[in-house]
Amino acid sequence: MARAHLTLNPAFTIGPVRRRLFGGFVEHLGRHVYDGIHEPGHPSAGPDGFRRDVIELVKELGVTTVRYPGGNFVSGYHWEDGVGPVAERPRRLDLAWHSTETNEVGLHEFQNWLDQVGGELMLAVNLGTRGPKEALDLVEYANVPSGTARAAQRAANGRQEPFGITMWCLGNEMDGPWQLGHRNAEDYGKLAAMTAKAMRQVDRNLELVVCGSSSRSMPTFGEWERVVLEHTYEDVDYISCHAYYEERDGDLASFLASGVDMDAFIEAVVATVDHVRALKRSDKRIDISFDEWNVWYLTRWLEQSRTFTIDDWPVAPRLLEDVYSVADAVTLGGLLISLLNHADRVASASLAQLVNVIAPIMTEPGGPAWRQTTFFPFSVTARAARGTALKVALDADATTTAAYGAVPVVAAAATVDGCSVSVFLQNRHTTEATSVTIDLSAFAVSGTVTARGVWDEDVYAVNDVRDTERVRLRTNDTAALADGVLTMELPPVSWTAVTVA
Ligand code: AHR
Repeated sequence: MARAHLTLNPAFTIGPVRRRLFGGFVEHLGRHVYDGIHEPGHPSAGPDGFRRDVIELVKELGVTTVRYPGGNFVSGYHWEDGVGPVAERPRRLDLAWHSTETNEVGLHEFQNWLDQVGGELMLAVNLGTRGPKEALDLVEYANVPSGTARAAQRAANGRQEPFGITMWCLGNEMDGPWQLGHRNAEDYGKLAAMTAKAMRQVDRNLELVVCGSSSRSMPTFGEWERVVLEHTYEDVDYISCHAYYEERDGDLASFLASGVDMDAFIEAVVATVDHVRALKRSDKRIDISFDEWNVWYLTRWLEQSRTFTIDDWPVAPRLLEDVYSVADAVTLGGLLISLLNHADRVASASLAQLVNVIAPIMTEPGGPAWRQTTFFPFSVTARAARGTALKVALDADATTTAAYGAVPVVAAAATVDGCSVSVFLQNRHTTEATSVTIDLSAFAVSGTVTARGVWDEDVYAVNDVRDTERVRLRTNDTAALADGVLTMELPPVSWTAVTVA
């Protein structure tokens, strides 16, 4: 059996766990909006067409901010198409996902849905096919209380009070050649700075996210961040990171260790941000909005996308409907550990996405809604990770991976909130259990130990429409606290959250 020893101390802090770390992402893509959150004919739908069963699951998931409406979609989107009487809204080609956008759901409907879910809206503007003017119109429409044409238009469309949206993304993945309106860093940096300055002239309280790289493997990674920030440093608050992981060629060990890549990604972006800060002799600190992250079997999507033709623009097709296994959930738990360990610089993050599209929640038209395996680590962490993130002193055996070499067999993060300490653990070993001891003697914890997580004899077990509850959250009965030391055994390929209160 492998072994790991952790020492925690309340004095060794990383930073506050900001609630925006547990954001989600809803894109107009596939069956996410239509036939996902919005299905007027469904037995559980309210008069607004939104499925209540889905709303309940999203609430249970515990997402805080929700990024909307894209993603690649936003780079061709006209926000005006999605406001006003629904019957008069145009149908448009969605070039990003080769679909037809009906515009039945737009800003007002989505905000109403979000009000029921209890989340904060993080809105993206189109800097692909559009520019500062349209972004300004949208800020005026959304945030100016009254007395202007756009504010009056909003009121006429049924919303007297402004939306009051704080977080705005300045486009999406503008470094990607697949993006409508893709630009080089120089051109995007100038456009983003111009747009940011203009938007702040309308509302100086906006928090603005400039596009970083769409992945660490982009050839422009690093240089893109530097150039974009040299143009925008004083105008923005956050730079985005996007990362997706998948198991390739049966290499489970490397896949489980994807958090190692996420750690390196975050640390490289922080280094670049702080380099530009030094160059500019600025007092201002820019943090990260990790506004797309997940497990995504991207290679399957690339194959599917090759089959599209000019005659084929479906409404709400089945796209990116990955079915997640226990191994996927354990990897996702490892990514959450990475985010928590960088809570000082990752101010906000969005699990991409929420429903049907690379999602923790799935639905069938007229049928059930259910939790994928990846639902569990997210929902447990969103609740248990509160207060302050702590540094974990980790002394662990190593396990070997093809992608990252030798890595600690256990990945761990910890938080403290008053008298309650939570530790998040991933056992990366593909075949062996790991015996863990956690020294909590520096805390005044005495009592109740709760240890829950995801593991299974079959690491490729899934929840699907045939068996929506095959994989559930499990309790680890080996966890015990004695003399300030918590001991437990982690099964192979497992993710566990243990809280001592
Ligand atoms: O989340 C799916 C897609 O991944 C998003 O639309 C895009 O931003 C990224 O490439």
